[in-house]
Amino acid sequence: MSMNAPRGTQDILPGTSEKWQYVERQLADLCRRYNYKEIRTPIFEHTELFQRGVGDSTDIVQKEMYTFEDRGGRSVTLRPEGTASVVRSYVQNKVYGLPNQPTKYFYMGPMFRYERPQQGRQRQFVQFGIEALGSDDPAIDAEVLALALGSYEELGLKSLKLVLNSLGDKESREAHRDALVRHFDPHREELCADCQVRLDQNPLRVLDCKKDREHPAMSTAPSILDYLNDYSENYFEEVKKYLDEMGIAYEIDPNLVRGLDYYNHTAFEIMSEAEGFGAITTLSGGGRYTGLVQEVGGPETSGIGFAMSIERLLMALEAEGIELPIDEGLDTYVVALGEEAEKAAVRLTYQLRQAGIQVDKDYLGKKMKAQFKAADRIGAKYVLVLGDQELENNVINVKTMATGDQQEVALDEIVDFMKKQLIGGE
Ligand code: HAM
Repeated sequence: MSMNAPRGTQDILPGTSEKWQYVERQLADLCRRYNYKEIRTPIFEHTELFQRGVGDSTDIVQKEMYTFEDRGGRSVTLRPEGTASVVRSYVQNKVYGLPNQPTKYFYMGPMFRYERPQQGRQRQFVQFGIEALGSDDPAIDAEVLALALGSYEELGLKSLKLVLNSLGDKESREAHRDALVRHFDPHREELCADCQVRLDQNPLRVLDCKKDREHPAMSTAPSILDYLNDYSENYFEEVKKYLDEMGIAYEIDPNLVRGLDYYNHTAFEIMSEAEGFGAITTLSGGGRYTGLVQEVGGPETSGIGFAMSIERLLMALEAEGIELPIDEGLDTYVVALGEEAEKAAVRLTYQLRQAGIQVDKDYLGKKMKAQFKAADRIGAKYVLVLGDQELENNVINVKTMATGDQQEVALDEIVDFMKKQLIGGE
């Protein structure tokens, strides 16, 4: 038995966890500005939710779910994505009946998919996503797209491409579906085994096949954009109009179909165009959905959202050489020598922390010199030195590490003194 973490999972250690915290704070703040509020749903749900929500014919449901029976014999699944859970919660809590619609949520948390791990693809990954439920206004599609793109731009990323498509409404999709079947049927035997099944179950997904990408029938496949009915076409035009209004650039790709079944109208992905980003260039994806709320027992309500993994966001930051403004140092380190000084150091450390100051001390019984060395290694800005001599005089020696300056401060004034140094006064 291996005692290593399971394949496709990772430990996020200090040095990296600060980056996660920073990014998570920035994203939460962006959501605050757009008035999206945080929702936290369970990490596991009834399996049926994803079967119905994400779609029986999707790769996620067919091959990638972590599904198991709990001790009560119920089939439960570790969530592979957030949308189905958010919609389940929206229906269960009857949020659709509250004033102040649309309902705008954001979420952040681990998702699980049994995929073949590679750079940017893990079995446990953290998604940040948003969902806006209860509005059919194309302006909210544009808002979601703006927020999605903003999540990257906010952190300084530049090599981004927003790829947009419309999957139309049911009527448009059915017309397109028939055309796809007519187009691919003569080539059925030449397609991969998965696509032969897709052709019967969900022909749109054939367009997304990695194996058959080079098949000549792919490039001549009928485009959904030629099958949009008036309502769908108009909807798409409106979304584009609002994007133009905000000055947001996009590229139309009629082959963008997304891997989940619930989409209609707007579908999009954001790709990284940074050199050295890796084989998987999709940073995030999302779109509009209509049947999902009804599928889990709610009234006819549509939503739109997107999700990204923080893992891929951090990869993109690295590929573009963006350093996050993270201070890994420490404000204060207390150096003490002697039994009495040690007691005073414990008290002082506590008092400083109570006063809101970041402080640490030695716990390995190190000599004075080694304590200084430790303070230096940790990157302490100030070192407070307490020896028996200082104690006797009721003072403490404050060393500013950047300049090497030293000064003595009365022990009963040190907390205020440090507050002034670090926080800038009372
Ligand atoms: P998705 O395209 O399956 O959509 O996933 C969205 C994003 O999650 C991907 O673009 C990628 O950043 C990240 N992701 C997915 N799988 C992995 C993985 N194995 N390892 C690392 N990152 C991964 C959804 O999940 C939809 N729920 C998005 C949505 C929200 N649509 C409407 N609302």
